[in-house]
Amino acid sequence: MYEFSVSEIIQRPNHIISIRFEDKSGQFPAYKAGQFLTLSFEFGEREVRRSYSFSSSPALSEPLEITVKRVENGEISRLLHHKLQVGDTINVLEPQGLFIYEPNINSQRTVFLFAAGVGITPLYSILKTALIEEQNTKIILVYSNSSREKTAFYDELLEWQQKYPNRLKIEFIWSDSKNLSKARLNREYLISLLNENLLNDKEDALFYTCGPLFYMDLVKFTLLGMGFPEENVRKETFHFPEEEEDDDEREEEVIDDKEYNVTLLFNGEEFKLIVPSNKTILDVGLEHKIKLPYSCKSGMCSTCISQVTKGAVKMDYNEVLTDNEVERGKCLICVSHPTEDGTIIDIL
Ligand SMILES: Cc1cc2nc3c(=O)[nH]c(=O)nc-3n(C[C@H](O)[C@H](O)[C@H](O)COP(=O)(O)OP(=O)(O)OC[C@H]3O[C@@H](n4cnc5c(N)ncnc54)[C@H](O)[C@@H]3O)c2cc1C
Ligand code: FES
Repeated sequence: MYEFSVSEIIQRPNHIISIRFEDKSGQFPAYKAGQFLTLSFEFGEREVRRSYSFSSSPALSEPLEITVKRVENGEISRLLHHKLQVGDTINVLEPQGLFIYEPNINSQRTVFLFAAGVGITPLYSILKTALIEEQNTKIILVYSNSSREKTAFYDELLEWQQKYPNRLKIEFIWSDSKNLSKARLNREYLISLLNENLLNDKEDALFYTCGPLFYMDLVKFTLLGMGFPEENVRKETFHFPEEEEDDDEREEEVIDDKEYNVTLLFNGEEFKLIVPSNKTILDVGLEHKIKLPYSCKSGMCSTCISQVTKGAVKMDYNEVLTDNEVERGKCLICVSHPTEDGTIIDIL
């Protein structure tokens, strides 16, 4: 755990703030564009963690910054909006996340960034990093909001466009636009944008998307339909599954009142647990005061990736692992329930 002090709070449109930090210890590890910071709060015995992507870029000597949208009834986002003050101290964990942009100085690629609302946060970090660290990469940012007035980082993005007119193109999509074909991201618009802007081969293009699930699915399935390789399409999920889940699609829950013996291998130690099937492996581990890695607790952030070496688990939700990885025994312990007695899990 590291201690940050709040150095600045910047008000942005659409109930969004950016929070800048100073690393009091000077020990905070280097982060990569696209990664997130986990904030940890203690309320008596209860620890609450939340993840927020960096909107600052590691390629610039700018303060560490996260950007937070106020969520209605949200416990932590409202605390950050209404209670946090410059000078306050916050506990944070090391940078995490697999939604990473690795700059390559020699690359000639086209990088397409698709953001909706506060989903701009990791993509703004990636945009700045790719423009600074690379010389030939072309960036196309497609950024959806309800209106120009509600677009966070609008002026900043225009400044970047002026600085790099030949390498950065920004397409703002506003749902209050009179031009209906550009009021919402849609398949036809996406296809023409891709055909117009692709510099080289399909294999050289990279895609990053962050927004609501239906938005990211539209981008992903259009790209796959056009023949872009799946491994070049990356997405970051901020939202909770229940937010967008269709009642008809929800699987009938199977009630199982069994308990399973599970062994966790963690930091060179072996922990034997009894996990009732209605609890996650992470929750039972935390009840036993094992300092397991976690952040979102909902199958979205990748912090708790582990390897099943014996037995089996069932995940409630998974926005991180590919089918192939799940087949090879990878799991997210925050959403996993054992389904076999004697299951052994290596916490990676
Ligand atoms: C990898 C990752 C990166 C993230 N990066 C960012 C970021 O850069 N900026 C940012 O603002 N948030 C980001 N989030 C979301 C953030 O971690 C919190 O989930 C969010 O701030 C809500 O927390 P809360 O405590 O205020 O709400 P909670 O008290 O946890 O939730 C209150 C209610 O709001 C619903 N809810 C929770 N989150 C959302 C949401 N995002 N939109 C709509 N309804 C919601 C819940 O289902 C619940 O009903 C990220 C999440 C992940 C997993
Ligand atoms: S803690 Fe985020 S995926 Fe498990």
